[in-house]
Amino acid sequence: MVIEILEKGLEAVEDQLASVVRSDISVLEDASLHIVSSGGKRVRPRMVLLGYLAAGGTDIDSVVPLAAAVEMVHTATLVHDDINDHSLTRRGKITVHARWGRTFALLTGDYLFTKVYELMAPYGVEPNIIIADACTKLVEGETLQAAAAKSGSMDRETYKQIISLKTASLFEASGRLGALIAGGDEETVEALAKYAYNLGLTFQIVDDILDIIGDAEAMGKPTGLDISQNRGVAMAQNGGEDVKTAVVELEIEEETDPFKLMMQNLRESGAVEVARFQAEEMSRRARQALAHVPPSEARDELENLIDLVLERDH
Ligand code: IPE
Ligand code: IPE
Ligand code: MG
Ligand code: MG
Repeated sequence: MVIEILEKGLEAVEDQLASVVRSDISVLEDASLHIVSSGGKRVRPRMVLLGYLAAGGTDIDSVVPLAAAVEMVHTATLVHDDINDHSLTRRGKITVHARWGRTFALLTGDYLFTKVYELMAPYGVEPNIIIADACTKLVEGETLQAAAAKSGSMDRETYKQIISLKTASLFEASGRLGALIAGGDEETVEALAKYAYNLGLTFQIVDDILDIIGDAEAMGKPTGLDISQNRGVAMAQNGGEDVKTAVVELEIEEETDPFKLMMQNLRESGAVEVARFQAEEMSRRARQALAHVPPSEARDELENLIDLVLERDH
């Protein structure tokens, strides 16, 4: 039953995402539709919808624009993030900047952000403050990451702060907003927010692990970017110093391509195991928070989502 409601809600989110980006300026519409309609896991809107249902909400249509707004924030940041990361593929397709150039990619990201105002307008002050706060944190996280990568100061504390700001904040807002719109009591709202926050941390650590051991084709985006750009979970473990040389110095057989050699050494350095341990710890915190939400089919789905995030390969 909940699955059907969820799927119906997610379909409505897809429709809304595609219709809200229509524009008379064809390059904006084309570039927006390119990224908006190319799939994506839709984890954040799923979180909004399930948070709403788990907190007792019964009218799924009432949170569809909100779920679309959260996905729109995420999508806008991906367009800009891919410019900063010089990334050429996203969701299995060419990135907006690689296809339309940097100027139009910047403007497309801006355009998608403006659509968040439109989608959020009906929700009043509190939800708008929550989403604005998440957007601020996201930009702070991306900026802190760029600054730490540049100065070589990516230690564990900074890493935790970065993933909290750039990823977990939007997850947290998703869980909180869904629960809030449902009229959930304070304990339920806080529990869903805490669950979502910790799932967001888990999600980003797993993303960073997949950057080391994942398959670029399955992920629909390049791997190996983090370490080549002085960031990510492995870089943090080495305090931002010498990780490239440290791993290259390990003994290794017969690999000659320096990048492949570095990645191979990185995989054998134990960094992935340490990161895996951290992801599992964060996922335990998510599970514990969920125990404070009243039992329901929607809560079961949120619990399943923890395992999906931990076990995902894309
Ligand atoms: C990518 O997010 C950025 C991170 C926070 C790691 P997703 O992995 O949710 O990207 P899509 O939406 O599925 O493409
Ligand atoms: C996530 O960071 C980007 C945002 C949260 C905006 P990444 O740079 O790791 O995301 P991917 O790997 O490009 O999807
Ligand atoms: Mg990136
Ligand atoms: Mg990544």
